Amino acid sequence: MDIRLITQDDIPQVVGIQSRITRREVSDLWQRMLLRHVDSEDQVAFVAEEDGQVIGFIIGEIKVGGFGSEVTGWVEMMGVAPDKMGSGIGKALARRLFDYFAEQGVHDVLTSVAWDSGDILAFFKGLGFDRSVFINLERKE
Ligand SMILES: CC(C)(COP(=O)(O)OP(=O)(O)OC[C@H]1O[C@@H](n2cnc3c(N)ncnc32)[C@H](O)[C@@H]1OP(=O)(O)O)[C@@H](O)C(=O)NCCC(=O)NCCS
Repeated sequence: MDIRLITQDDIPQVVGIQSRITRREVSDLWQRMLLRHVDSEDQVAFVAEEDGQVIGFIIGEIKVGGFGSEVTGWVEMMGVAPDKMGSGIGKALARRLFDYFAEQGVHDVLTSVAWDSGDILAFFKGLGFDRSVFINLERKE
């Protein structure tokens, strides 16, 4: 397995994985969000590739200001092809993103997880995450 930066050519395969995970068609908005992570320093994405096939992805972002530190790295979203889950791909993708953040001088990494997603919390806890001092607020009209 190889982990490398995403390219525009990977987008259909990443969309395919996301669609298999969510069991829904992936919106144009989501695809445009992904495209913004190609060839960008602050909005990055890595893919895991095996035998020429993309089998997982991770999307991250470096944000300046707020959240206690001058610069923070965010794990925005990640996904592993359902038939490949549980074989260390997610962990390897996350570690690659953390290495990228560290190369950019970013050592404070945050993410948001639904409070009732016990399994995803377990996944992130295994990567060294713990509850932060921040809470998410939401306003709807
Ligand atoms: C969450 C996800 C990215 C994990 O990737 P993965 O390749 O399946 O996970 P790994 O095999 O690398 O597992 C790493 C560790 O997390 C644990 N883990 C992974 N998925 C888990 C789950 N659903 N419940 C509990 N623990 C889990 C593994 O046991 C492993 O622990 P270990 O290091 O002690 O052996 C993947 O399952 C996925 O795509 N899920 C659907 C999309 C999603 O929820 N994305 C995250 C939020 S955007």
